Amino acid sequence: MPQTATAPAFDALYGDRVNPQWVRLLRVLQMDVQYAHCKGAELFTTDGRRILDFLSGYCVHNTGHNHPAIIEAIQKELERQGPAMLQSHVPELAGELAGRLCALAGGRLQKAYFSSSGSEAIEAAIKFARAHTGRAGLVYAEGAFHGLTCGALSLMGDPFWRDGFGPLLPETEAVPFGDLQVLEQKLASRRFAALILEPIQGEGGVRVPHAGYLLAAQKLCRRYGTLLVLDEVQTGMYRTGRFLAGHHFDVEPDMVALAKALSGGLIPSGALLMSDAVYDSVYNSLHRAIVHTSTYSENSLAMRAGLAALAVLERERLGERALAAGEYLRQRLREVLSPYEMVKEIRGVGLLNGIEFQAPEKLRLRAPFEAFMKIHAGMFGQVIVMRLFRDQGFLTQMCGNNFMVLKVAPPLIVEDSQLDGFVRAVADVVECMHSTGAFWSEALGLTRRVIHI
Ligand SMILES: Cc1ncc(COP(=O)(O)O)c(C=O)c1O
Repeated sequence: MPQTATAPAFDALYGDRVNPQWVRLLRVLQMDVQYAHCKGAELFTTDGRRILDFLSGYCVHNTGHNHPAIIEAIQKELERQGPAMLQSHVPELAGELAGRLCALAGGRLQKAYFSSSGSEAIEAAIKFARAHTGRAGLVYAEGAFHGLTCGALSLMGDPFWRDGFGPLLPETEAVPFGDLQVLEQKLASRRFAALILEPIQGEGGVRVPHAGYLLAAQKLCRRYGTLLVLDEVQTGMYRTGRFLAGHHFDVEPDMVALAKALSGGLIPSGALLMSDAVYDSVYNSLHRAIVHTSTYSENSLAMRAGLAALAVLERERLGERALAAGEYLRQRLREVLSPYEMVKEIRGVGLLNGIEFQAPEKLRLRAPFEAFMKIHAGMFGQVIVMRLFRDQGFLTQMCGNNFMVLKVAPPLIVEDSQLDGFVRAVADVVECMHSTGAFWSEALGLTRRVIHI
């Protein structure tokens, strides 16, 4: 009998050669679809499904997927066949983008160092803070996410990310996010070069600090000679309605890290904005002109994409859109989810939002919830994510450092009808969680599969 050849699965090569565990995880979660094309907030699969993106690649796609104006700008830049990666010339587009970013950021931020990722921007912040202050210590907040390179990883306490990769940087210490007393005790030792904070914690659970926290933290930093660094890798680029989330709190940091949405989601890019004073302590002589650089950091495609992304964000007034859409979304979510005991809180600013779940009180729900949490605490949220994806057509994720918070961060171009659809979808999944055994039996089955594969 002749053998009929079957085409290899679309993810086979990736599974063989890049990351088999990722392929397996997506399969278990039934999220192993193949995407054909993506536009705005919509993702189209090869088998004809339409999925709405309410994750935005963790705040990459503020301008929506494949914005035509950004694509056109990148295409023109390629066709121009200009200088790229000479490493021996002045990349003028980097100057232009730096000027725009510093003008929008305001305050003390006068210079930009470009990187190719958020982690690299944080690495630069660590080096520059040390160079400026002559101190080694770094303070970060519990629950923070700053990236997975060794320096950035040293600013994250969660053992999940750290285990097996040590020793990490010494003299890094955590403080509770929002606690000024503990912060002052640390800073008063005058051992710390920088306090590094996300103004609103993203992966920590979309945690919005109390109104006076950041400004008071800044005052303490100034008093004790510590630099204030804001990690705006997720919160920047109008995600929360203002260009920087720090602008909601009237702070003037010494450095700000940007990445993700900076280049419209198409070319890797990051930036560290800083004061002249910080800059001068690093690049302080001809001899040190290239003392901190990276090959692809000022590449013309990323810089062009950054300029085009900023133009779109401003022309389409996406900051204002994020504010209005965020208000609307939170209000609608509160309306439909408030009757459910496992929904603890809906919070956020602009279009960076979280739905926090909690353990139920009613015995009927408490028993399966507790049994489930004992087996695998992280899987409760994954069942929500899986059901939203498979049954409702919405791509979401739980926060990376807080598995009880569902992150809700659609592209800023999202339409009201899409927000309404999401509200209905979440209400459906939450209703199922509270009313039928199906949610819990599926959850247990899924957890067993994860444990046994
Ligand atoms: C707040 C924050 N900072 C830094 C990073 C690291 O950025 P990258 O993944 O581009 O290195 C991330 C990534 O998710 C982030 O969310």
